[in-house]
Amino acid sequence: MNVTLQLVGEVRDIPVAPGQSLMQAIATQGRDAITALCGGCCICGTCRVRVLDGDPGPMGEGEAHLRRQLDITDPAIRLSCQMRPGSCLRVAVIHPR
Ligand code: FES
Repeated sequence: MNVTLQLVGEVRDIPVAPGQSLMQAIATQGRDAITALCGGCCICGTCRVRVLDGDPGPMGEGEAHLRRQLDITDPAIRLSCQMRPGSCLRVAVIHPR
């Protein structure tokens, strides 16, 4: 299964292996492809993506809890380390400032 990833200035399709998080798949694209300060432990919120198209799948309680802590209310913004896409998606990485 592939996810279409929009990076600054380019668009590419990346493979996501079964069980792999979206953050892990994006990280294979290079050191600067995504920031994930906690390494996927769902405590930093730096791995945000905007879902542009497709079904991102259900949100677990850990992701929902961190979103509330970080005051993320836009339903299109998800934490890629908690996402295990089951279908094709189009996402844009949101780099922290
Ligand atoms: S990598 Fe820290 S919350 Fe996703």
